[in-house]
Amino acid sequence: MKNILLIGIGAGNPEHITVQAINALNRTNVFFILDKGYANDDLLRLRKEICQRYMTRDDYRVVQVQDPQREDDPHSYQVGIEHWHEQRAVLFEQLIGDEVADGEVGAFLVWGDPSLYDSTLRILERVLERGAQSFEYQVIPGITSVQALVAQHRIPLNRIGEPIQITTGRRLAQSPEGDIDNVVVMLDAHCTFETLTDTDLYIYWGAYLGTPDEILIAGKLKDVSAEIRRVREAARREKGWIMDTYLLRRPR
Ligand SMILES: C[S@@+](CC[C@H](N)C(=O)[O-])C[C@H]1O[C@@H](n2cnc3c(N)ncnc32)[C@H](O)[C@@H]1O
Repeated sequence: MKNILLIGIGAGNPEHITVQAINALNRTNVFFILDKGYANDDLLRLRKEICQRYMTRDDYRVVQVQDPQREDDPHSYQVGIEHWHEQRAVLFEQLIGDEVADGEVGAFLVWGDPSLYDSTLRILERVLERGAQSFEYQVIPGITSVQALVAQHRIPLNRIGEPIQITTGRRLAQSPEGDIDNVVVMLDAHCTFETLTDTDLYIYWGAYLGTPDEILIAGKLKDVSAEIRRVREAARREKGWIMDTYLLRRPR
């Protein structure tokens, strides 16, 4: 039987790797590295660096392939996603079929943790449903960007007994402002926090968390919103890409 591992590698700091992940890396015969076509290849480099740093063997293979680009369907977000997932499933099926021999271990290195806004797990299930490949698979958890954000700001994720919501910039834009109490926002390319008018809200913002380029800004949203936009734009221009996450919190 083939074995496939989904290894959470943390959100940018090579020291986010767990002992379980290091052991999983060392069981791996072939690593699949998906090139997402970022203008800058920092994220690819970090994945390769992790293999080199923690592997105690050197008889592993690395297969780097272009990840299909997601193309938004003008009529439906869901249709765009469905089409993209199917393309990825075909690619994964081919990789597992061609590159992993019976009894071998193949691994996908997943940014942060595989459970959070990542489709690798769903794609693997889809590959199994397609029926052309059979394999066992295991998920190795990693440190998420949410954990990295709150750790760097030295705040708890939730206050005593309070729920915490994790959402996307797209969904935040559609939800009533009054519902925001304790919300982590990811995948926000449009600085959606700028549209909020509530003067009580606080923001804890972080970009490139865990990396040497990390930027942190915190304060009352009305006081720091313009600064975040300015710093974000400048960093994105300079590096060619940005990943940022923030927590919005209403004081008690
Ligand atoms: C496709 S999701 C992947 C999330 C990942 N699986 C995790 O566990 O954090 C990408 C989003 O995660 C957040 N993100 C990931 N790494 C980050 C980092 N180093 N600094 C800030 N935000 C990050 C950003 O909101 C980005 O848009």
